[in-house]
Amino acid sequence: MFALKKFSILLCFAVATTILSLSVTAAVVEEKLNVLVFYESLCPDSKRFLQNQLGPNYDELGDFLDIKLVPFGNAKSVDDGKEFVCQHGPAECLGNLKQSCVINQTTNQTAQVKFVVCQMTTHWNDNDVKECSESVGLSSNIDNCVNTQLGINLQLEAERITKLYQVNYVPTIVYDKVFNQDLQQNSLKDFRGTVCDLLRTRGDISLDDEVCK
Ligand SMILES: *[C@@H]1O[C@H](CO)[C@@H](O)[C@H](O)[C@H]1NC(C)=O
Ligand SMILES: *[C@@H]1O[C@H](CO)[C@@H](O)[C@H](O)[C@H]1NC(C)=O
Repeated sequence: MFALKKFSILLCFAVATTILSLSVTAAVVEEKLNVLVFYESLCPDSKRFLQNQLGPNYDELGDFLDIKLVPFGNAKSVDDGKEFVCQHGPAECLGNLKQSCVINQTTNQTAQVKFVVCQMTTHWNDNDVKECSESVGLSSNIDNCVNTQLGINLQLEAERITKLYQVNYVPTIVYDKVFNQDLQQNSLKDFRGTVCDLLRTRGDISLDDEVCK
């Protein structure tokens, strides 16, 4: 009788431990590595990052990431958005605005990233969004955003978050909402390696996982 009671206490403890570890695992899996990408439509370094780093690695790493693309960089609003002034001139402001508008059509991260990578790779200097938006199933008819308060609000929001992180180099890449200069520099040279290191540290993947071999 005594032995049985002891056994059931042990069992209960074992069950409780299992439930606890399950819920911890679930929390880790649910919360993806947050990646903020601050960039500018006409910035050659932004083009390079999107074309050579994020673009080629997205298919494999995308599922582990919660990515937000913020096309604004060193731009500035004047009079609450009556006007914007951009590092590479008015064409860049139009490019930032158009990309904000296309991104705002969807919450589908893959579509957002693929659009921006395509745009920054093949149409980065002509601001023609038709080919790239349609290639990911989004509309290129963005007049009702570009020419309205919605477009202004999207750019003001991009400015707010850019200022929050005190971005001074473009592009700037921020992981889990904390800027880190080493991760920033490594990301521009080796985004894949940087992300894989972070995913391993978080316990999202192991050293043997195919995705980061
Ligand atoms: C587009 O932007 C508006 C205004 O900020 C916002 O309310 C809406 O949720 C955005 N849509 C998507 C799909 O993100
Ligand atoms: C998200 O967008 C991609 C690229 O256009 C597409 O292949 C995928 O089916 C979309 N996913 C969903 C859930 O709509």
